[in-house]
Amino acid sequence: MPKIELVPSILSANFAQLGTDAKAALDAGGSVLHVDVMDGHFVPNITLGPPVVQSLRKTIPDAIFDCHLMIERPDDLIPAFAEAGATWISVHQEACVHLDRTLHLIASHGCEPGVVINPATPVEMLDEVLEIVHHVLVMSVNPGFGGQEFIRGSLRKIEALAKIREVRGLNFRIEVDGGVALNTIADVVRAGAELLVAGNAVFGNGKIADNVTKLLQAAKGATVARA
Ligand code: DX5
Ligand code: ZN
Repeated sequence: MPKIELVPSILSANFAQLGTDAKAALDAGGSVLHVDVMDGHFVPNITLGPPVVQSLRKTIPDAIFDCHLMIERPDDLIPAFAEAGATWISVHQEACVHLDRTLHLIASHGCEPGVVINPATPVEMLDEVLEIVHHVLVMSVNPGFGGQEFIRGSLRKIEALAKIREVRGLNFRIEVDGGVALNTIADVVRAGAELLVAGNAVFGNGKIADNVTKLLQAAKGATVARA
């Protein structure tokens, strides 16, 4: 049974107090910090770059930083994100002409490589890279913004990936991102996801610590049902 982990996405944090918000989410039980990088080209929004990762790394030295690059030509910036302190770096299949090369580039900079697929991309597009990735990130919204509604078709894709992993005896982890909240988290766990990214549900309303606790409770409750 894979370890279920909550991965708070700082996209919905208060950027004026990013370190404090991020620490609160980790102290409450979040285990990996999800960092959404948007360039205004691959997605219609702009967020942050390597200097912010570097500052977060100084403030929270031991955290795992899961950098989700929603950018064109990611090869140009992978070295800078690695240097800034990224732990995992994921790139979109749709953004990479030479996906195999890009994933090896990430690994060559000492980071764990991940691959991401948009809602309209089938899991079959990843057949040739599943052996070299640390994680596969299934987008359950169209990337670009926090607080969007969960696209239920992603559940079928998570199930398919879990099956492929079993049949082929592979080790990649399955991550889900977008619209993960109290009303959807049990379904994604039952489908086979284990790294559960949540932005709005953690940082949007109420106390960060309470939100993390409730989400983890709901996720772990679903694990029992799955077992
Ligand atoms: C969307 C980002 C997500 C985002 C998810 O483009 O990749 O990581 O923060 O936000 P919620 O959990 O609010 O849907
Ligand atoms: Zn993301």
